[in-house]
Amino acid sequence: MKTTIQIDITKTQVSRLQETDFNNLVFGKTISDHMFVADYVDGEWTDLRIEPYAPLLLNPSNATLHYGQSIFEGMKAYKNEEGEILLFRADANQKRLNESARRMCIPEVPEEIFMEGLMTLLDLDRSWIPNKPGYSLYIRPFVFATDDYIGVRPSEKYKFMIFTCPVGNYYSKPVAVKVEQKYTRAIEGGTGQAKAAGNYAGSLYPALLAQKEGYDQLLWTDGKTHQFIEESGTMNVMFMINDTLITAPTHTGTILKGITRDSVLTLAKEMGYGVEERFLSVTELEKAVVEGKLQDAFGTGTAATIAHIFKININGQDYLLPEKPSNAFSNQVLKTLDDIKYGKKEDNHGWIIKF
Ligand code: COI
Repeated sequence: MKTTIQIDITKTQVSRLQETDFNNLVFGKTISDHMFVADYVDGEWTDLRIEPYAPLLLNPSNATLHYGQSIFEGMKAYKNEEGEILLFRADANQKRLNESARRMCIPEVPEEIFMEGLMTLLDLDRSWIPNKPGYSLYIRPFVFATDDYIGVRPSEKYKFMIFTCPVGNYYSKPVAVKVEQKYTRAIEGGTGQAKAAGNYAGSLYPALLAQKEGYDQLLWTDGKTHQFIEESGTMNVMFMINDTLITAPTHTGTILKGITRDSVLTLAKEMGYGVEERFLSVTELEKAVVEGKLQDAFGTGTAATIAHIFKININGQDYLLPEKPSNAFSNQVLKTLDDIKYGKKEDNHGWIIKF
């Protein structure tokens, strides 16, 4: 990509690479050497720079700390056997960041700044990208308000930043989920579709209650009737009933428009499966489990990739799902996606930028 964007680069004096144990990566704990930063001042993004990863200096009256005007993205880069970087669907993340920005009164980040900042950062820290199956570089772009002001109004100043972390799988084994019918993650007209910090904060308490009962995650239901499955806090969810893949639609504005979700739906259609983006009721899900028609159940997300579900609690009843055979849809689609991401299979969808 050719742009006229100027990025100042200050390299770290001492890399943390040598002291990093790439065989024991805990998701999100190990951060690469550098970060990209841009400041939004007087109506424009300025002072584009790459600096050593370091703490930020914030005033206690920083607006984000009080009113949560903060959005983020999650994306991944991989390395092929030739040592080239493969960046997966970054354009989709850039667009989704700006959809979140519009909802949260945050200025959009122009595509050139997002892509140029990202690619320069990845190039500088390319040694941090693992080249082992199941491992990747998780990329966290985010934007937050930086006004020092505690009146309630959209901030006038912001920071856009990107840092990266080498990671393995977010879930190291299949997950147990519980259908949540008391608490609400999102409601029509709310902010559920935005990748906004506050959505995650609000989901923590109900998720913690479920974790105390031994479940990994909740299956959120719609906020009005609590009868229809929406998503799980860290991923979208999909169910294969007979040979049809069912996942909640996104038009209500209550569900995150997952990029892995979209990739899986695209591949499922190409693999000849029926795909239905429609609401699945808790009753229909329970009936499919009881009648043995639920062939597959899994979450999709950038961090989670494809997370198999092995247990679902519905109406207080635990249902154990049969172990997935290697030809189960979730396993097939995980392999296809991995092959595309690691450059082992041709990318026919224009999903990869290689550099
Ligand atoms: C992602 O999958 O990238 C996410 O943002 C989920 C996150 C909460 C780990």
